[in-house]
Amino acid sequence: MNSKERIIQLREELHRHNHNYYVLNAPVITDYEFDVLLRELQDLEEANPDMYDETSPTMRVGSDITKEFRQIAHKYPMLSLGNTYSKAEVAEFYDRIKKNLNEDFELCCELKFDGTSISLTYVGGKLVQAVTRGDGEKGDDVTANVKTIRSVPLVLSGSGYPHEFEIRGEVLMPWTVFEKLNEERAAVGEQPFANPRNAASGTLKLQDSSVVSKRSLDAYLYFMLGEDLPSGTHYGNLEKARAWGFKISSLTRKCSTLDDVFSFIDYIDEERKNLPYATDGIVLKVNSIRQQRKLGYTSKSPRWAIAYKFQAERAVTRLNEVTYQVGRTGVVTPVANLDPVQLSGTVVKRASLHNSDIIEKFDLHIGDMVYVEKGGEIIPKITGVDVEARFMVGEKVRFITKCPQCGTPLVRADGEAAHYCPNSATCPPQIKSRIEHFVSRDAMNIESIGPESVELLFNYGLVKNISDIYKLSLEDLMFLPRMGQRSAENVIEAVNKSLDVPFERVLFALGIRFVGATVAKRLVRAFGNIDDLMNATYEQLVEVEEIGERIAASVMEFFANETNRELVENLRNAGLRFEVCQEAAVAVSDKLKGLSIVVSGVFSLHSRDEYKRLIEDNGGKNVGSVSKSTSFILAGENMGPSKLEKAKKLGVRIVDEEEFLAML
Ligand code: IVH
Repeated sequence: MNSKERIIQLREELHRHNHNYYVLNAPVITDYEFDVLLRELQDLEEANPDMYDETSPTMRVGSDITKEFRQIAHKYPMLSLGNTYSKAEVAEFYDRIKKNLNEDFELCCELKFDGTSISLTYVGGKLVQAVTRGDGEKGDDVTANVKTIRSVPLVLSGSGYPHEFEIRGEVLMPWTVFEKLNEERAAVGEQPFANPRNAASGTLKLQDSSVVSKRSLDAYLYFMLGEDLPSGTHYGNLEKARAWGFKISSLTRKCSTLDDVFSFIDYIDEERKNLPYATDGIVLKVNSIRQQRKLGYTSKSPRWAIAYKFQAERAVTRLNEVTYQVGRTGVVTPVANLDPVQLSGTVVKRASLHNSDIIEKFDLHIGDMVYVEKGGEIIPKITGVDVEARFMVGEKVRFITKCPQCGTPLVRADGEAAHYCPNSATCPPQIKSRIEHFVSRDAMNIESIGPESVELLFNYGLVKNISDIYKLSLEDLMFLPRMGQRSAENVIEAVNKSLDVPFERVLFALGIRFVGATVAKRLVRAFGNIDDLMNATYEQLVEVEEIGERIAASVMEFFANETNRELVENLRNAGLRFEVCQEAAVAVSDKLKGLSIVVSGVFSLHSRDEYKRLIEDNGGKNVGSVSKSTSFILAGENMGPSKLEKAKKLGVRIVDEEEFLAML
């Protein structure tokens, strides 16, 4: 087989494995085996540029080419659906259809996904275009981003699909991905997404598709359009679509009586609590396409379909007080303190008010009876005030003008919703949370200092800013309440060990707004040491991959501050790493190209993660388990006995730290 044939074979195979994994949830090969095939395809495509194909599985990793989205007119407008919240209105819809059709009919009942809608066009079985809903008439061309969604087929399987057709559906962000993303955003001072719907649409509109690729979006399809569709029913078309590789929900029922519809609604209202993504109702569609045509459309929505929306669970309770929290980056968040109330199985005492605009919008007064909802959000929020119940209410809530902790006047940046306390240098909650961030696991990993110790160290005046951590003595620590000799020794040991933490994590630990772990890595790769980074111009910063204007401005602002420069100096004097270590600096070579390496055991010269990075930077591949294709094992102390045994059996070579570093 020549390389061109192999490329075609690999593409087919990889499309199949993607489908098995992301659509059927039934992978037949391991992630590692998948990566090996993908890598082979990437290499072959690089060597054979004439074989370029927009729909190759290698296109799913995205590229960082940034361009504004092109606007594309929809061939058929993207309409919305009539909404109802009551079963009585569902019954009216049913009767209306019955009267207008005057013949038997079936309804297809399906989930109403709570994401962002998308329209996909396939020509000759290949995905050629993905467009957002936009204003319904025209939307944004987000093809490059949609290609990174692994459950969207780039090439269709099977046969019988029309030469050209459109299929519409919903792009979703699963709950687990949403929660993790918000944690990461909060950690770097970014406003979290309010719900998975906003997160999905925000992600789809990112300019850098390689970032989209990492966000694990999913997509369900629910509506096929075109001239020569394969079936005369909506349900039949979706079945075909499933056979061609699309992800179609199996929670879909054909109902021929109103009772069937109601029992499906009740069933889903329970079942949806276990689904991995957000849904907000049921969509009922007349199944026969002929009957759909007969019923037609209004200017806004089809007459043959309706959405029954689940009522978000809501409670009414009394607002007792509004308190204000100050975060690490100084952002002040108002919190409503409520009379405890039951809501979807938990007792709610506090709810987020997000920012001052919300307080103004509801004209909140202390003593107001407020509505609390837990809809698509994790933290309950206030969704309104029962104005009728306003009787002898207390004072109007006015957003504070000074920091509740240090008294500094708050500021609000142009175009931003949040107020913040600019006194980063001495505002206690800001200092304490900066210290907490600094010692956290992904930063300096000084685990023996938890939030309680931070509180003590700060209150006793031992740590007034981050660099004081490196001045702590055993005596200082033992002076603290509830701190025994053993724990004090542990702290000192962990502090000393943190001197070996690589530069990229030190940079992340500084807690610069918008500089998360990934951004820190990018900056370290681009600048190599703190002096070059501190002296970088705005233009140099935005040139770095994934560094946009907002991050660049934040980095500039951080280092323009004399206190922060002093902090860096103090930390440098304490012995922290502010440049990439020698080994890593010479890295980025091809020396380990084609080698599969297992890292096992405890090392003394570098951490296990550093070795893994060295392997990748030098073109090698980290693999988890020993097999006959393993090139060698990089082994430290106490390597796992099963690995050792397997290595001996297969005759895989064992390499120690020194030998490995010498190779590089
Ligand atoms: S069908 C002409 N089916 O709801 C009918 N829409 O308010 C086209 N949606 O913009 C829509 N789940 O984003 C349809 N199973 C489903 C749906 C669904 C969610 C969304 C879609 C649409 C909106 C309509």
